Amino acid sequence: MQSDAYLKCIDPQCGLEYPVKSTNVECEKGHLLDIKYKNKPSDNLKEVFYQRRNPQGNIFNESGVWRFRELLNFCQIDTENIGECSKYLVSLDGAEGRQSKPYKMSKAAEFIGISSDTLWLQPEGYNPSGSFKDNGMASAVTHAKMVGAKKIVCASTGNTSASAGMFAANEGINCDVYIPSGQIAPGKLSQAYQFGAQIVEVDGNFDDALKQSLYDAKHHNGYTVNSVNPFRIEGQKTIVHRALEYLKWESPDWIVYPGGALGNTSSCGKALMELYEWGWIKKIPRIAVINSEGASTLSDLYNGKFEGEELRWNDGNPNTELIEKYYEYLDKNKIRPKTKATAIQIGRPANILKGLRALEFTDGVVTTVSDSEMLDGMSVVGLNGFDCEMASGASVVGIKKLLEEGTIKKDDVVLGILTGRQKDAMLAVEYHNNPKNKFAIPPKN
Ligand code: F0G
Repeated sequence: MQSDAYLKCIDPQCGLEYPVKSTNVECEKGHLLDIKYKNKPSDNLKEVFYQRRNPQGNIFNESGVWRFRELLNFCQIDTENIGECSKYLVSLDGAEGRQSKPYKMSKAAEFIGISSDTLWLQPEGYNPSGSFKDNGMASAVTHAKMVGAKKIVCASTGNTSASAGMFAANEGINCDVYIPSGQIAPGKLSQAYQFGAQIVEVDGNFDDALKQSLYDAKHHNGYTVNSVNPFRIEGQKTIVHRALEYLKWESPDWIVYPGGALGNTSSCGKALMELYEWGWIKKIPRIAVINSEGASTLSDLYNGKFEGEELRWNDGNPNTELIEKYYEYLDKNKIRPKTKATAIQIGRPANILKGLRALEFTDGVVTTVSDSEMLDGMSVVGLNGFDCEMASGASVVGIKKLLEEGTIKKDDVVLGILTGRQKDAMLAVEYHNNPKNKFAIPPKN
C-alpha cells in the first residue's frame, strides 16, 4: 500500500523526500513539497475517465475530482468498487467538481473582443461550497483521514474556510478557521459558522491569519488544509484535467487564473508538467496570472517593478532574497494588500515558488487589473447567466487586457477559470445602482 507516492522537496538542490503519510507542509529546510508518483499512468485512462462520465451509481465517478483518481492516486486505489473507494476517498457525495467544465459565454467574449469560438470560461463556483476550493479540499481531507487527523485547520479569505467547514461537517471532524477580522465576504463567513467551524478572528490580514494558523496547527495537533499542503494541490489539478478532457486533450493557448496565494497557479503548473511528461498533451498552454492592483506582489516581482529584477524560478535557483526584501519593503512602508476583491487580498503568496516554477514551465505572464475592471468582469459573466464573484472577474478582464496589449493573440484559444460564486450580494446591488458602471442596469420605480 501507498508505496508509489511520496513527498519531495521542490528545491532541486535539496530534494528531501518523505513518506506519503507525512503531514509536513515543508521540508526541514523550509521548502514547499510536491507529491510524486513512481509510476506513469496508462494512456488507456483517457477512455476510462470518459466512460466514468456515466457514473453508474458510483459517486467517485460522479465526482469531478475522483473521476480522475488515478492521476492523484496517493491512496493507491485500484478498484471500481464503491465500498472499497469510500474507505479512503473523501467526497461530498460525488458533488465536488461535478458541474465544472468549460463553457462558451458570448457576451463575455464580445466584451473581451475575442471570438466566442476561442474563449472558454470554466465556472468553479458551482461546487457544493461555492468555489474551486472543494477540488483540493476533497484530496486534502482524504489525506487527513489517511493519517487519522481529528481536526483540520486553515486560514482563509473566506472560500477555503467555507469548503473546509463543509468537508469537516461531512466527515464529523473538527475545523478551526482563522480569518482576517472584518475582511471577508459576509456570505463566506456565514458558511463557516453554518457548518459548525470554530472561527478564530485574527486582528490583521490574511497573511497574519495564515502565519498564526500554521503555528497553532503545528503546536496543537491540527491538520493544515491551506494550499501549502501539497495534497490540496493534487485535487486542484483536476480543474485542468476536466477542462482538457472536455477539449479532447487539445491544449488551449492560455489558461488564466486570478492570483492570490497561488495554489491555483501551482496546481495548474503541476498538472501540465505531468500531462506533458506522460505525453498526454503535445502543447504546453501558457499560464496568465491576474493580480489585483492593490495586492500585486507576484506581478511586481515577476515584472521587475521592484529593484529592477524580474524574479524567476531560474531552474530552481530563484532569488528568494529579493522576495524577502520586497516583504521588508512592504512592512517598512506599511503597505497592506487592499482590494474590494477580498478573496485575493493577499500580500505574501505562500506558494510563490511553486507559482514561479509553473510560470517558467509554461512561459507564463502576470498582470494586474483594477477593482472597477474586476467588477465589470464579474458583471458581464452574470449577463451570460453565470454567477461569479469579484475575484473571478479578474480572469475575464485579465484576458481583455492581455489581448489589447497584444500578449494574447486574436486567434489564441483561451481558457479562463471563474474561481467562485458570488457571496457578497451587495457588490452586485451597488454595481447596478450606479448608472456609470459599464453593465449597470439600475432599478426603476
Ligand atoms: N478566487 C477566489 C474566489 C478565491 O477564493 C481565491 C483564494 C483565489 C481566487 C485565489 O486563488 O490562492 O489559489 O491564488 N482564496 C483563498 C481563501 C485564499 O482563503 O479562500 P489562489
